[in-house]
Amino acid sequence: MVCAVDAGLPASGGSAFFALAVDETMTKDKVRVTDLAQMKAERTPIAMLTAYDFPFARIFDAAGVDVLLVGDSLGMVVQGADSTLAVTLDEVIYHTRMVARARQRALVVADLPFLTYQVSVEKALANSGRLIKEGGAEAVKLEGGITMAETIRRMVDIDIPVMGHIGLTRQSIHRMGGHRVQGRRSGKTAGCRERLLEDAVAVEHAGAFALVLEGIPAELAREITERASIPTIGIGAGVACDGQVLVMHDVLGLSESFSPRFAKPYAHLWREASAAATGYIREVRERAFPTPEHSNDTKRA
Ligand code: KIV
Repeated sequence: MVCAVDAGLPASGGSAFFALAVDETMTKDKVRVTDLAQMKAERTPIAMLTAYDFPFARIFDAAGVDVLLVGDSLGMVVQGADSTLAVTLDEVIYHTRMVARARQRALVVADLPFLTYQVSVEKALANSGRLIKEGGAEAVKLEGGITMAETIRRMVDIDIPVMGHIGLTRQSIHRMGGHRVQGRRSGKTAGCRERLLEDAVAVEHAGAFALVLEGIPAELAREITERASIPTIGIGAGVACDGQVLVMHDVLGLSESFSPRFAKPYAHLWREASAAATGYIREVRERAFPTPEHSNDTKRA
């Protein structure tokens, strides 16, 4: 969108259209796709978290997270499935809309689910467009390296910003034989070390603005990060990436028992939510809640 500042027009006193454009999309702090390259150049680590609904997106945005990812991990952590494969485009759009409504500062990136972009470039373009038009995403993420390069190029050609994702790509669970660390073996076949180096170059050359490195050895992630001019964002990929991403449930301790080794819980919300629910149930059974103060005819002090 043309903005008053870029167009050399007064930011105020012009038409309502230009005033709105400046207020809503060009606020000083807003993180844009182009800012991530700047952050890499300045060696400012990029903090990215997944989010799937309004309240958590609001909390993370207000806390200052740079990127909110509406990941297809929602299939596992929100829907309770054992893989991401069944997630649909409509479901990602539904969750992206909630996250986008909460966004003030963070860049909102939405995942293209399995088979919404691998089948044809045309499908990839149309489905990415839906994430942006209907969901309110500012960029999309897709999994794959060399084999996705042409698709990424065509998306970038029509100004759809693309975040790449290589390594332990969950949509390839059947090829990988489970959620397994990639890049340990040497070779040029999918998931091998040299192939991942080539995948990273292909994604960068195709025009992606950033690259998620998931589940690969730390020294391989370091090598990719040093060679790449675009920022790398790691998850289970060591300490050398330009940024980090975690699934919000792992950061907040929102899973019943499982916590991946690469993640760090900064809270234990499952425990707290469970204690809150137990307390509520007990008080209802004991008629300790509600008390007269909770009834509508009691005026609050
Ligand atoms: O779907 C997701 O949440 C992701 C992150 C794990 C990077 O792709």
